Amino acid sequence: MNTIQLDNQGRLKHFLGIEGLRRDLLLSILNVAKSFITVDAQVVKKVPLLRGKTIVNLFFEPSTRTRTTFELAAKRLSADVLNFNISTSSTSKGETLIDMLRNLEAMHCDTFVVRHEAAGAVHFIAQHVSPSIHIINAGDGWHEHPTQAMLDMYTILQCKGKFNHLKVAIVGDILHSRVARSDIHALSILGVSEIRVIAPKTLLPFGVEHLGVKVFNHLRTGLTDVDVVIMLRLQRERMQSALLPSAHEYFQYYGLTEEMLEVIDSSAIIMHPGPINRGVEIASEVADGSRSVILQQVTNGIAVRMAIMAMTLGVIGEG
Ligand code: CP
Repeated sequence: MNTIQLDNQGRLKHFLGIEGLRRDLLLSILNVAKSFITVDAQVVKKVPLLRGKTIVNLFFEPSTRTRTTFELAAKRLSADVLNFNISTSSTSKGETLIDMLRNLEAMHCDTFVVRHEAAGAVHFIAQHVSPSIHIINAGDGWHEHPTQAMLDMYTILQCKGKFNHLKVAIVGDILHSRVARSDIHALSILGVSEIRVIAPKTLLPFGVEHLGVKVFNHLRTGLTDVDVVIMLRLQRERMQSALLPSAHEYFQYYGLTEEMLEVIDSSAIIMHPGPINRGVEIASEVADGSRSVILQQVTNGIAVRMAIMAMTLGVIGEG
């Protein structure tokens, strides 16, 4: 994949996935993002770095956080932004994806931010667009959600100050989660001391232990002494059969409640990529509680996406 997403000098051209990326590149993204965090606090929340560039948001799947923070990130960099409405586009009249992209290329756009229900769709697009176009993966099927992973890493670093010595648990529907895959790759590249996945057997991918994670089927045991908890929702839209008895029963065994927080360190943080399903994977008191950094993740998403857009467009180096 890196032969597609890096140029021949090893710099980011596209941002398609975390797997296989260098540690120094991930750290550069986090450093550049840090330099953009203060833009939010300026009276005029803008820097002129992407003036004259055009970013197109192409979302073939629903999104709240990713689409809006990409739009805000592009606007804060002074780019022009097109939010392409797939449901009212000419793809509904039989136009192919590639023909649609060719037409957007003809409008001299610079970056396509793509979310697609099919794993690998963003790689296909990156291989077929003109060399002047940059592709950023905003989530492809079960495969990867690399900008979410980078904002998760940013939030962990912001709260914990370092990656080594950390024990991180990812809880829930690992099987269908592109966030879990990207987070596992990122945590592993950045060198945390332990990555745990906690889920019922039916929601774990076959051979997940080969990704370098410790597998737990029991929530209380898996959470003991962790520093970071990343909760995931049940991704029913990707389940082809009933993998669970009921949401109520799932909450009983895998829901993060205040009582369950007793086994984790008092300084541990609770994360969730959203959308959250209250009373299914997380209790409201935990989602809204003092250890939750769920909304901090959303805020950080703007600076992280600014960094990734600026770096793929080559207007900012790896520093
Ligand atoms: N975390 C995330 O991808 O949320 P959205 O689906 O709302 O973009």
